[in-house]
Amino acid sequence: MAKRFIILLFIAAWLSGSASGQRDHPRGRSFDAESHPVKHPEEQQTQYWVDKAQEKLLSKLAEAETQTANTNKAKNVILFLGDGMSVHTVTATRNLLGDSAEQVYFEGFPYTGLSKTYCVNRQVADSACTATAYLGGVKGNYGTIGVNGQVPRYSCDGDAKEENQVLSIAQWAQAAGKDAGLVTTARVTHASPAGVYAHTADRNWENDWEVANRGCDPAQTIDIARQLVEQPVGQRLKVILGGGRQNFINTTVNDEEGLPGLRTDGRHLIRQWLDQKRAANESANYVWSRKGLGLVDLEHTDYLLGLFANSHLPYNGDRDRKRSQLADPSLSELTEAAIKVLSRNQEGFFLFVEGARIDMAHHDTYARRSLEDTAEFARAVQKAREMTAEDDTLIVVTADHAHVMSINGYPEITGLAQLADDNLPYTILSYANGPGYYSGYNRAEGRALLKEENGDDVAVYASGPYAQYFSGNYEQSNIPALMARAAGIGPYA
Ligand SMILES: *[C@@H]1O[C@H](CO)[C@@H](O)[C@H](O)[C@H]1NC(C)=O
Ligand SMILES: *[C@@H]1O[C@H](CO)[C@@H](O)[C@H](O)[C@H]1NC(C)=O
Repeated sequence: MAKRFIILLFIAAWLSGSASGQRDHPRGRSFDAESHPVKHPEEQQTQYWVDKAQEKLLSKLAEAETQTANTNKAKNVILFLGDGMSVHTVTATRNLLGDSAEQVYFEGFPYTGLSKTYCVNRQVADSACTATAYLGGVKGNYGTIGVNGQVPRYSCDGDAKEENQVLSIAQWAQAAGKDAGLVTTARVTHASPAGVYAHTADRNWENDWEVANRGCDPAQTIDIARQLVEQPVGQRLKVILGGGRQNFINTTVNDEEGLPGLRTDGRHLIRQWLDQKRAANESANYVWSRKGLGLVDLEHTDYLLGLFANSHLPYNGDRDRKRSQLADPSLSELTEAAIKVLSRNQEGFFLFVEGARIDMAHHDTYARRSLEDTAEFARAVQKAREMTAEDDTLIVVTADHAHVMSINGYPEITGLAQLADDNLPYTILSYANGPGYYSGYNRAEGRALLKEENGDDVAVYASGPYAQYFSGNYEQSNIPALMARAAGIGPYA
């Protein structure tokens, strides 16, 4: 039975990289100091750890003396969302960055808490219902976005009743005279960013064809891309940066990279967006490449729409860094551009930034891709913190839900652990489900495929005005209330 409990999953990239390692791991031999030399000899000394603890105490004492809690009004609020970024993911990213003692940038933020991610009808949440929680302050049903728990998934008229719609903190910011924007490495109509501006009974309704495919009338049930361009919150977003041109153009139309759209209603929503802004005499720019983004005069741009891929942006590790015309911008570059545009409003702004592909890499069990995207996500957080002042800008970093990746076994995180009962080594980072599960495990004997993420709490890291609000353990739906209170906007002001 023992082997049943060991999930044998091989992450191809690492396996090939560590193939020679297999010979060093004969069955049953334990790992001693000789085969795994200590990386930092100073860690073998008691004094090293005592000094580290003293350092921590000194900084805490200094904080107590000099720091009163930051109770400034938050002019700006930036919410960073690492999709599927479990605590395990952050831990493993430290190793990617260097070693276990390394800190991922936002781990240095002064306040940390835990948020409870379940949704109304599921213990284990998805990116849709969690978006309603961390952006709108209300929990809804699995698969739905921007609507409360009265709305069952796939109900055609689910978004129709105003009392069932959940407004997001982006709307609260706009109503208070601030600007709002979103940045994501996914399609801008994907579940998490849709929480900023959409109300829909199904996360898949990103275009009219998907709506019709579920038996609803696309003229009544407005798809997510159309909501972004035609409905008030989306219309007023000053910055929209991500992927997903496919949901803006018809199947008969090709995008700048020659790839077709998915719409069947003939709408060209990119053109529609530009026409709208120009009709209102606003300066608006649409860009589709890193080069195009570089040419935009961000200090004189009212509205910026950047759709850099037909679907999602590539994993950070797969970004095309050579061909300048088609090169893809990084999440930190997108974040920098967004802050430049939004900073033009003296009243401040709300910005949502999503590292979307951390989760997608996990789903495909590409652990290294996932950690690289987490590292780039951390660079984006750092860029934002450096561009803004702790005095007036609250930055909150969290995840929507955790993931099933776990850290098992003894030697290095990116290597192979001992041999299991079947004489094969297993990787330290393993997945309890996902497509890689079957490729590494005997289908006939294997466990049932679990499709979901897991229901763990996720961490929340905060810096800036009222960051102290974010310590402790609370509902994910409390997050927008705490942010809004810090900024003095919306129903929680
Ligand atoms: C859009 O696509 C649909 C089907 O894919 C097609 O029937 C229709 O003619 C197209 N509309 C335009 C305006 O090209
Ligand atoms: C549009 O804006 C420009 C520059 O801000 C201004 O000179 C012009 O009068 C405006 N036109 C209209 C029709 O509002």
